[in-house]
Amino acid sequence: MKSAKPYIEEHKDRFLTELIDLLKIPSISADKAYANDVIKTADVIKESLEKAGCDKVEICDTPGYPIVYGEKMLDPKLPTILVYGHYDVQPPDPINLWDSPPFEPVIKKTELHPEGAIFARGSCDDKGQMYMHVKAMEYMTATNQLPCNVKFMIEGEEEVGSESLGWFVERNQEKLANDVILISDTGMIANDIPSITTGLRGLSYVEVEVTGPNRDLHSGLYGGAVANPINVLTKMIASLHDDDNHITIPGFYDKVEELSKEERAKMAEAPFSKEAYCKALDIEDVYGEAGYTTNERNSIRPTLDVNGIWGGYTGEGAKTVIASKAYAKISMRLVPDQNWKEITELFKNHFESIAPKGVTVKVNPHHGGTAYVTPIDSLGYKAASNAYETTFGKTPIPQRSGGSIPIVALFEKELKSKTILMGFGLDSDAIHSPNEHFGIWNYLKGIETIPQFYHEFTKLKNS
Ligand code: BES
Ligand code: MN
Ligand code: MN
Repeated sequence: MKSAKPYIEEHKDRFLTELIDLLKIPSISADKAYANDVIKTADVIKESLEKAGCDKVEICDTPGYPIVYGEKMLDPKLPTILVYGHYDVQPPDPINLWDSPPFEPVIKKTELHPEGAIFARGSCDDKGQMYMHVKAMEYMTATNQLPCNVKFMIEGEEEVGSESLGWFVERNQEKLANDVILISDTGMIANDIPSITTGLRGLSYVEVEVTGPNRDLHSGLYGGAVANPINVLTKMIASLHDDDNHITIPGFYDKVEELSKEERAKMAEAPFSKEAYCKALDIEDVYGEAGYTTNERNSIRPTLDVNGIWGGYTGEGAKTVIASKAYAKISMRLVPDQNWKEITELFKNHFESIAPKGVTVKVNPHHGGTAYVTPIDSLGYKAASNAYETTFGKTPIPQRSGGSIPIVALFEKELKSKTILMGFGLDSDAIHSPNEHFGIWNYLKGIETIPQFYHEFTKLKNS
């Protein structure tokens, strides 16, 4: 296959303005106030897939937000690649920490992106990375180089648990039949150190509520004599890790897949600088589970983190009060072979059991997901590796990520195919944070590398 570089060079400005237009629509799936924008985004994606050369594009209604499905079937005998991505984005909050408005994209240079990066919510996660596939498709059809069949499935609920996608996949196995699933919704080590994501963690997300007295109390009149729900909640949360930062929930580690010495040694070969890591985050030192390296702590080990905690008076000045209730949102990142429903149950039982008399505790499970690991000896992985070699001039490093895309495990279960995670973002691109951005170099490199994957995969499949 010819290099896409000349085509990209010629159309680069349009590729950027199209993405910028897409980023202007606030498709925040978590907030119902933006429902119309989420739906509008699906329509824009549909149009872009039609323009890129798909023969059949449809908006598939679901109990939630629509799924955009598109395909170009050249010949049933050829392999079929299913591309998945999401067009919904995280809420931009806290909005005052953005240097420019989250839905008014601007291009700025950064240390890691000297060629400029697009700053906007969704630029990297996942509109920018998803749109690389649309433009790669445009390139292949416009230059008559599409080597195989392709199906696109772009959803609008990834950031809230992909419930409707699960519903859709279960009902459309035949329509979605494929030889490999291709996703760009992860990252790579650095622009000069390409890597392919080989693992995703699972997730159990819960919300807890601690109730003490039936009303807020004067902290002088009652302080010291009744359980303060905030004091109790923070104490309970603190007890969930021991001094070595192991999680104390009984049974939590029972099914955790332990990696062999060899596998851990292989992992340790990936380049990593603790100094650079700390400097980028302005921290003095890293922190985590005893006995594991930073790269292990954030990929092959399960974790428990408070994502939000509230209660009592947080307004200006002081108010002397003991709140009636305290709350926290807690996520547990899971690894193979932990079962998220089982872990949620273990958490619930444990958390309720450690509540002292004088408070009541409620645990409300949110969503969850199963971890995923993709083998590196599959056709798909080899095709991806060859593709990177062509466009980066280097063999990519396989690396397990700490993030979650829960639907990937379901793809394997329902569609029986492997997923290849070709991510082009950097950890420092601030996804889910203020000032999310995506390097223009990364965007264009993705568009250049994806057609090579199509080519390599078709070649390997036919040989
Ligand atoms: N694209 C991310 C996941 C990701 C990012 C994986 C970088 C690996 C590297 C995805 O959009 C995401 O944010 N997933 C959520 C889970 C979901 C159930 C809300 C996550 O990981 O928190
Ligand atoms: Mn994503
Ligand atoms: Mn995300």
